[in-house]
Amino acid sequence: MKKLLLLEANGNAGEDLLDAASELGVQVYVATHEDICRNYRPAVRDKIAEVIFTDFTSQEIALKELSEFGRRTGIDGVITGWEFFSPLVTRLAAELGLPGHDVHRAEACRNKRLMAHAFGEHEVPAPMTVTASDYTSVAGQLAASGLRFPLVVKPAENAGSIGVSVVSSADELAAAFQLAQNWPYEFPHGVPLENTVLIQEYVGGKEFSVETVIFRGTVRHLAITEKFTTDNASRAELGHTVPADLAADSRAMLLDTVERALAALGLRNGIAHTEIKLLPEGGAKIIEVGARPPGDHIMKLVQHALGISEPRAYIQVALGEEPDLEPRSSAAAAIRFITPPRAGVFRGVGDIPRSPAIVESAVYLAPGTEAKDPNDNVGRVGHLIVKAESQAEVNWIAANLMDTIAVEVT
Ligand SMILES: Nc1ncnc2c1ncn2[C@@H]1O[C@H](COP(=O)(O)OP(=O)(O)O)[C@@H](O)[C@H]1O
Ligand SMILES: [Mg+2]
Repeated sequence: MKKLLLLEANGNAGEDLLDAASELGVQVYVATHEDICRNYRPAVRDKIAEVIFTDFTSQEIALKELSEFGRRTGIDGVITGWEFFSPLVTRLAAELGLPGHDVHRAEACRNKRLMAHAFGEHEVPAPMTVTASDYTSVAGQLAASGLRFPLVVKPAENAGSIGVSVVSSADELAAAFQLAQNWPYEFPHGVPLENTVLIQEYVGGKEFSVETVIFRGTVRHLAITEKFTTDNASRAELGHTVPADLAADSRAMLLDTVERALAALGLRNGIAHTEIKLLPEGGAKIIEVGARPPGDHIMKLVQHALGISEPRAYIQVALGEEPDLEPRSSAAAAIRFITPPRAGVFRGVGDIPRSPAIVESAVYLAPGTEAKDPNDNVGRVGHLIVKAESQAEVNWIAANLMDTIAVEVT
């Protein structure tokens, strides 16, 4: 039986990865922290052969301990279920001589400052960016750069739209900068986060993500996902649809741009989730690349729509095996997030409507608990996953269902 080391099973891709491993007959070892493991649901815990505790507050200690464990146990492949560990998993694969990405560019796949630099060096279309860790230099840097409002201000190393603002005038800049520096540590492992802030050209147009498998340097795209976000000062993601409805030329151009980004970041063996905007004037710009499973249950959407198991493919590549990427269906699937109108005490979401199109629904909060501000992805209180024959149909059904759901907060 082959042995796989999964860095954190707690993310929303964790269970999908564990299930795919079990279908492949692969034994899974999970690296996590004791306090986090204590809260694993029994259904998750039962799918794990053994858990290994390490201290993620130091990535160096984690690398040392996990490579020792990997050698001792005879681990055959390493994957991550948690975005913040994508550099660590690349370094671990290199340390153990297992399939992975270019170790010299491991950090650039996560840290947006290094990513912007790699894109600049390789002429990958991306937003014009300045970076600063101290606000006093910002006005001078902006004047020298020629950047104009609106601007996007965001932290170099966070995720889930946390600390991301769209700023339309100089008056709002200081507060946005401060907000971007509000999270010095990742939650829940306490990984230290660089305090650099990116200030970027605001890229207009429509946003997509591209789900990709890379095996021995060869890129295979699974799907382009249509993304729905809020369009006020914050940028929370409201939902996704797989596959996006796109003309062939736009599709080809998006995929070509993604391939240039993946090459710039040295992705060779694994999966990638790339966020990209299709510009109204033509062309595209990369927002970010993640060398990790997509969040937001996008892997489930790919499975429902196309019949391709991305977690299975990720595991196969990590073990050095040819991934199974044959589509077995040509439907469409969508997820929509249920968000509160404002922060407050959560009272419920009323009745979730019944529909044969719904394949999954979830409400995360118990009545009487605190609902957070809907400004980032942390503010979500639940979701619906819907399946239909086409994108137009699934988007229409999802919109109608969401219209009938009222989140009550007091
Ligand atoms: N330069 C930009 N121009 C326009 N929108 C942006 C830009 N940067 C980020 N966004 C929006 O904010 C969202 C979150 O930013 P992102 O860079 O993906 O950070 P995170 O790691 O938090 O997901 C993006 O999905 C996009 O909608
Ligand atoms: Mg993002």
